[in-house]
Amino acid sequence: MNISVIGSGYVGLVTGACFAALNNNVICIDNNEEKINKLNDLIIPISEPGLEDLVKTNYKEKRLKFTKDTPEGIKDSEVVFICVDTPTKEGKPDLSAVKNVAKDIGKSLNSYKLIVEKSTVPVGTGEIVEEIIKQFPKNAEFDIASNPEFLREGSAIKDFMYPDRIVLGTPNPRATAILTELYRPLNANFIITGVKEAELIKHASNSFLALKISYANDIAEVCEKKGADVKTVLSGVGADKRIGKEFLNPGIGYGGSCFPKDVAAFIHIQEDCGVDPSILKAAQSRNNYQRQYFVEKTEKALGNLEGKVLGVLGLSFKPNTDDMRSAPSIDIINQLQSKKALIKAYDPQAMENANKILNNVQYCKDPYEVAESADALLLLTEWKEFESLDLQRIKDSLKNPIVLDGRNIYDPQRMSTVGFKYYGMGRK
Ligand code: UDX
Repeated sequence: MNISVIGSGYVGLVTGACFAALNNNVICIDNNEEKINKLNDLIIPISEPGLEDLVKTNYKEKRLKFTKDTPEGIKDSEVVFICVDTPTKEGKPDLSAVKNVAKDIGKSLNSYKLIVEKSTVPVGTGEIVEEIIKQFPKNAEFDIASNPEFLREGSAIKDFMYPDRIVLGTPNPRATAILTELYRPLNANFIITGVKEAELIKHASNSFLALKISYANDIAEVCEKKGADVKTVLSGVGADKRIGKEFLNPGIGYGGSCFPKDVAAFIHIQEDCGVDPSILKAAQSRNNYQRQYFVEKTEKALGNLEGKVLGVLGLSFKPNTDDMRSAPSIDIINQLQSKKALIKAYDPQAMENANKILNNVQYCKDPYEVAESADALLLLTEWKEFESLDLQRIKDSLKNPIVLDGRNIYDPQRMSTVGFKYYGMGRK
């Protein structure tokens, strides 16, 4: 099938490359000329495992093209995916990019197109897109569908190729047939709904996952106050298959380009239609508080932080990505620096991006340089390589054998055996 993907960011590029790998002819479109030029030179602007190979292979086999010209990019396509960003501004979803794309499509509609919202959009956006396109001279039929993605950074290609479910919000059987045909090679579980239901499934899913994380952080604080071990408690809770173990890991809270944005957007949607958003507001404030909670824990362990050298392991919002968007490390480091602490840091991938956001951080070549004569070690991102450090060497390098584990990757028993003063999140 001939497909166009408008917006070549994380979602658009992964979606385009994966559809190309499924033997479709794909044109990825973006209005950022520099990004399109880099992609045509096979320079991939994001670090996502497997993406570079997938793009190169399909580009060379001419199943994947890049252009900044929307009319040119959609004229031969039957399906047009909208994958532009929908940021949150002052707590409200900003649909300007989606609306601009709808105008571009309206201007260049030359034959039947199935226009598919893949970006995370508020319920009812499909109707807005339809109204915009209808304002243009009617050169051809079109339908609007919603097909939200559930890709996680660091496992986006796997999540695309092996989805738990494919949600298709369609207005009629023609649209349903096109999308089920397109996704058939994945042999996945289709959930066929109306457009509004599909738009809501996305916001409701992400908000629930964020809520689950904040709930785990509530339980962690109770465990800390009551002298119980949160991992034990939550594995007992998660054993109930109605609850499940996933996304019940307490820590310094969630970051990334999705959860903070989607929770804020869904709170706004609830308020906008007169629904009390207290539950998600509580999840949001617990998540914001988690950063401060970790800083307070650091102060309790070290006393006055002025002049103290703090070694930070991990900056990205989660492992296996260089992405710093809404990373908890940003708030934590800013708060520590406002208390005049000095920061050294190492992250396997995110230091270049972190350097564009953070100030006065000494970046190190490895975890051991971070530990050298630091007053404490702070673990903020659970990169695999941090689980197999030579702990004796770390302890000997630190000025004080103090570890604050923001992601509970170390075993408290083992840490005290080695001689650390260990502080986890809700650990005994
Ligand atoms: C998320 C959703 O998982 C995905 O379905 C959606 O399409 C996009 O948003 P992503 O933001 O890439 O994906 O990462 P995810 O693995 O969900 O983690 C999000 C944040 O939650 C990270 O900061 C992570 O550290 C944190 N997290 C995750 C926890 O704090 N505890 C957990 O148990 C799980």
